[in-house]
Amino acid sequence: MIRVGLVGAGFIGRNHFNQYEKMTDRARVVALCDADADRRAGDWSKVGGNLADAQGTKRDLGNIRPYTDWRQLVDESAIDLIVICVPTYLHRDITLAALKAGKHVLCEKPMALTVEQCDEMIAAARPPARFMIAQCIRFWPEYVWLKQTMDEGMFGPLRAIHLRRQTSAPTYSLDNWITNPELSGGAVLDLHVHDVDYCLHLLGRPRSVFAQGYQRSGGGVDRVHASWSYGRSIVVQIEAFWDLHPGFTFNMGFTAVFEDASVMWDSKTGVPLTVYQRDRDPQTPEMPTEDAYYGEINHLVSCIERGTDPTITTPRESRDAVAIALAEKKSALSGQIVSI
Ligand SMILES: NC(=O)c1ccc[n+]([C@@H]2O[C@H](COP(=O)([O-])OP(=O)(O)OC[C@H]3O[C@@H](n4cnc5c(N)ncnc54)[C@H](O)[C@@H]3O)[C@@H](O)[C@H]2O)c1
Repeated sequence: MIRVGLVGAGFIGRNHFNQYEKMTDRARVVALCDADADRRAGDWSKVGGNLADAQGTKRDLGNIRPYTDWRQLVDESAIDLIVICVPTYLHRDITLAALKAGKHVLCEKPMALTVEQCDEMIAAARPPARFMIAQCIRFWPEYVWLKQTMDEGMFGPLRAIHLRRQTSAPTYSLDNWITNPELSGGAVLDLHVHDVDYCLHLLGRPRSVFAQGYQRSGGGVDRVHASWSYGRSIVVQIEAFWDLHPGFTFNMGFTAVFEDASVMWDSKTGVPLTVYQRDRDPQTPEMPTEDAYYGEINHLVSCIERGTDPTITTPRESRDAVAIALAEKKSALSGQIVSI
């Protein structure tokens, strides 16, 4: 039984909590730390979000030890895995302390605010401790299907990919920390890193990136449209923004153009992933059924049980995703192509 200490019971922390409830014979939350007294006590009725389980609830945390200070939770001997679901500026410090205490660590994306911080985290991770960044898109059914389809060569070579992540300005985070670029990195890091990481998963590191975007006074780069160059004939465009007006809420999706088929999916439309081919009716293939958040946590829990490092996503890849998102930010602010 893996004993879990959860740090942060906000939007994504609550989501992690729910997943452990589906695997209580293998991993169980035994301690929870949150700076907010209501959340620490299980009153999650004011927790917001833009994805699954966006409704708040009240939970009975009777058997779970509450902590106000994450340092005490990290030092507690009766915990095996620390799950870090607090604002991004805290990721580095908590990860370093947890790894130093010999714990396994699952830390939310983006890995950290700078490449230097990511490198420190990687350097601190040593077996038998297992360390993974929660790159949920690598486990998301439509994205899993697309990667498998590409790897199997089902529709011939990939010619073009457009990845998109589009949302109204986020309002759900506690004290709105997410809109402060000093704490979150802005949309170019917080939101866009999902697709940057996924594109790395799909195609590996590009040679260079070029991006357009803008930065509001006092804000972050909250809109980015990036083109990646691989030095071969494949077109890669990735866009992310959280500057849409209220009411749009959230969309993620992609258009992938292979030699023999085009594939399209947008979460907001409710239309299933659709494959378009010459001389055939559009097809809507079966998607993998596993919940992405469950799949992500199940991967790490299985690795801990087996004594192996995670393979579907590695800290080095998460670090590269931060590096590339920051290279795009540099490009957007300078108007220059940035080599990777
Ligand atoms: N993978 C995903 O789909 C996904 C979705 C949303 C957020 N995230 C990431 O998860 C992290 C948290 O985001 P969120 O949306 O859940 O934020 P949130 O504001 O909803 O929740 C953060 C929680 O951390 C607590 N907290 C803040 N400082 C603390 C401290 N020093 N000690 C203890 N608790 C503290 C807050 O009280 C709050 O309950 C961010 O890094 C974000 O980028 C990932």
